Amino acid sequence: MHFPLLLIPLLHPLTTHALNITTPQPNNPFAPSPLPPSHAQSDGDAIVSLFQTLGRTTVWTLISQTPFQGDTYEPEGIVRLGPSRYIVSAGEYTLPTIPYGKVINGTDRTAGAGFAHLIVFSGNGTRIADVTLTKPGEVEYHNGGIDFDGEWIWCTIAQYRPNTTAHVVRVDPRTLEQTTILRYDDHLGGIVHDVQRGSITTLNWGARNASTFDLRRRPGGYGWNAGVAKAASVVRNPSYFVDYQDCKFLGHSRLYNGRAVMLCSGVATIGSGASSYNLGGVAIVDVETMVPLMEVPITMRSVLGTPVTQNPVEVSVEDGKLRLYFLPDQHTSILYVYEAQPDSPYEF
Ligand SMILES: *[C@@H]1O[C@H](CO)[C@@H](O)[C@H](O)[C@H]1NC(C)=O
Ligand SMILES: *[C@@H]1O[C@H](CO)[C@@H](O)[C@H](O)[C@H]1NC(C)=O
Ligand SMILES: *[C@@H]1O[C@H](CO)[C@@H](O)[C@H](O)[C@H]1NC(C)=O
Ligand SMILES: *[C@@H]1O[C@H](CO)[C@@H](O)[C@H](O)[C@H]1NC(C)=O
Ligand SMILES: *[C@@H]1O[C@H](CO)[C@@H](O)[C@H](O)[C@H]1NC(C)=O
Repeated sequence: MHFPLLLIPLLHPLTTHALNITTPQPNNPFAPSPLPPSHAQSDGDAIVSLFQTLGRTTVWTLISQTPFQGDTYEPEGIVRLGPSRYIVSAGEYTLPTIPYGKVINGTDRTAGAGFAHLIVFSGNGTRIADVTLTKPGEVEYHNGGIDFDGEWIWCTIAQYRPNTTAHVVRVDPRTLEQTTILRYDDHLGGIVHDVQRGSITTLNWGARNASTFDLRRRPGGYGWNAGVAKAASVVRNPSYFVDYQDCKFLGHSRLYNGRAVMLCSGVATIGSGASSYNLGGVAIVDVETMVPLMEVPITMRSVLGTPVTQNPVEVSVEDGKLRLYFLPDQHTSILYVYEAQPDSPYEF
C-alpha cells in the first residue's frame, strides 16, 4: 500500500510543534522495528502472578547498574522498548519554584521555568536522542511518569506545582513527534493508557487523585482547541503509604477477574522532623478505583543514597523471574535492574 504524503498531516491533525531534538547517534533508530508489544499485550498477566510471590522479605538481586550517558535532568518516567532501548521522561529546571508559604490562586509556589524532555538511550546507556517537548516560556514544562501502549508513549506535561494545569501528549517512539490529546485543570503526573477500553487514567500531584478520560467519546481525542477536558471520573487514591510517581499498564488481569491493573512505584516521607524517614514501595493498583491490590515496600537505595523508587520504574519477566528497573538519581543517572528471588519455603 502506498499512502500519499498528503495524508500524513490528516493522520496527525494535532501535531503542532516542530521537533526540537539532538541526536548524538544519528545513525541509530529511536526505537526497535517492529515495536515490542505493550505489557498488556505480552507479560502483564505474568507480572501480576509473579508479584503474588513478593513480600517484605523478598531478596532483590542487583542484576546490573548501567550509567545513562549525559545530563538526565530529573528523570520522571521510563519505558523499556525491549532490551535495546529505554525512553526516559525528564524535567529540566532553569528557574526554581519558590514556595509562597500560603495558597494563592489555588497553588502554593511560583511557576518556575524549564523544559520537558524525552531522552532515548540504548540498552547499554548510550544516548541516542533528546527531544524537548515544550517551548521556552511555556508554564507547563514538567514531564511526569510515562507509559507505552504498543504504539505510543503517553506523557503528562504539567505546571511544576500542585493543583494547577497540565496537558497530555502521546509521542510516536519511531519519530519522537508529539500529538496533544487534551488539557486539564489539575497537575498531572503518572499516566496509563487502557487500549481495550479506550481510556487514559492520569494521577495528579502526589498521586492523590486519578482522573480517567474516555478517548472514544471524543473521536480524534479532545484536542488543544477543544477547551479543558472533563474527566469521565475522578477518584481519590485511598492509599497513603507511598505517592506513586510512575506506572505501567498491565492490562485486564486474569487473576483479578479482568480488572484493569497497573504497576506503580513511588516514595513518601513518613512522619516529620528528626524521626521522619523515606518509605519506598511498588504496588499493583486497580486502575478504576486506585485500590492497591498488592503492595510491597522497597528499601534499596542508589549509590548516592536515593531510594530506588524515587521516580521511574519499569518491569519485565526474564526466565520466569520478575525484574524491576529504576532510575532514581538526577542529572547523572544509573539504571538499576533488580530481580526478585522467589521465596522458596521448601528449598534452602
Ligand atoms: C492570581 O490570579 C490573578 C487573576 O488571574 C492574577 O492577577 C494574579 O497575578 C495571580 N497571583 C499570583 C501570585 O500568581
Ligand atoms: C487547590 O485549589 C482549591 C481551589 O482553588 C483550593 O481550595 C485548595 O486549597 C488548593 N489546594 C492546594 C493544595 O493548593
Ligand atoms: C552501545 O549501543 C550502541 C547503540 O546500539 C552501539 O552503537 C554501541 O556500539 C554500544 N556500545 C557498547 C560499548 O557496546
Ligand atoms: C529547544 O530545547 C532547549 C532545551 O532542551 C531550549 O533551550 C531551546 O530554547 C529550545 N528551542 C526551541 C526553538 O524551542
Ligand atoms: C480529588 O477528588 C476528590 C473526590 O473526587 C475531590 O473532592 C477533589 O477536589 C479532587 N482534588 C483535586 C485536586 O482534583
